Amino acid sequence: MSKKVLVLYYSQSGQLQSVMKQIVTPLAECDSVHCDFLEITPETPYPYPWSFYEFFNVFPEAVYLDGCPVKPLETEDEYDLIILGYTSWFLSPSIPVTGFLQSDQAKNLFRDTPVITVIACRDMWLMAQEKMKTMLSDLGARLLDNIVLTDQGKSLYTFVTTPRWMLTGKKDSFWFFPPAGVHTEDIASAFRFGKRICNALQHDEECATLPLLSNMNAVNVNGKLIATEHIAHRSFLIWCKLIKKAGPQGSSGRNVVITIYTVFLLTLVVTVVPLNMLLRKLLAPFRRKALARAVHYYEQPSGK
Ligand SMILES: Cc1cc2nc3c(=O)[nH]c(=O)nc-3n(C[C@H](O)[C@H](O)[C@H](O)COP(=O)(O)O)c2cc1C
Repeated sequence: MSKKVLVLYYSQSGQLQSVMKQIVTPLAECDSVHCDFLEITPETPYPYPWSFYEFFNVFPEAVYLDGCPVKPLETEDEYDLIILGYTSWFLSPSIPVTGFLQSDQAKNLFRDTPVITVIACRDMWLMAQEKMKTMLSDLGARLLDNIVLTDQGKSLYTFVTTPRWMLTGKKDSFWFFPPAGVHTEDIASAFRFGKRICNALQHDEECATLPLLSNMNAVNVNGKLIATEHIAHRSFLIWCKLIKKAGPQGSSGRNVVITIYTVFLLTLVVTVVPLNMLLRKLLAPFRRKALARAVHYYEQPSGK
């Protein structure tokens, strides 16, 4: 019997779309699989590239999971598997994906359905996936696997190359910085996941509870970023409350608080971040076990 797979994603520059296409190609070639490949579309499009204030204006809504209205999708009533691709916006799933997951359509589609999440982002996705897990569980869906692709280059470089790309649309390398975004080879090799999923569907493996993509290097957790994400997310919750209180999106009140926040953020980056890095290095020998446990937790369900 033919298996029905729904592939959903929201991508601005087309990067995540290319990842999803790589995964879907072997599935589409599979005789026994029917695949619907659909893009989530917000009722009001988000800009790309973004202006500085447009970018930070969506900060509170992303963090507090205030999803936007999205256009209904033409789907079947139910699927054997959903593959959901999303990007991380301020350590949270992007607003259009959150919006879709909050829609009535998602309530019907996701109930009792196995889901594979696919993330393509700079390198900070742990908190976003925690939020995703909660949203999927609230919908009654079952998270089977998680695939994560992150931008090429060290965190210190992508801290410059990713915002430059978002604010100008430029992805090229410059000075000593690598190109922005996920390496093209990493995108191309996402094909392997599609092949494995295709094989698994033919053997009804999606009905069982075990992940389909273990031992495939689906996820690589950078242990150094775990504490940073926790601290950043806590501070995001406080700042986002302030920004929201200052006024609606685009208001001058909101823009004033955003300006103060970005000055605060830059000060933090040049003062607290290096101190934190030093402290972490000093404490590393005493925290090895706890860190290994945390890495293992965030690598689930697919594992390395
Ligand atoms: C508003 C906004 C916030 C972002 N915040 C994060 C973030 O917190 N962590 C991260 O790793 N990437 C972040 N990114 C980068 C995205 O996850 C993603 O890599 C980028 O938007 C390209 O994806 P796309 O063109 O396929 O949509 C952000 C991008 C945008 C537009």
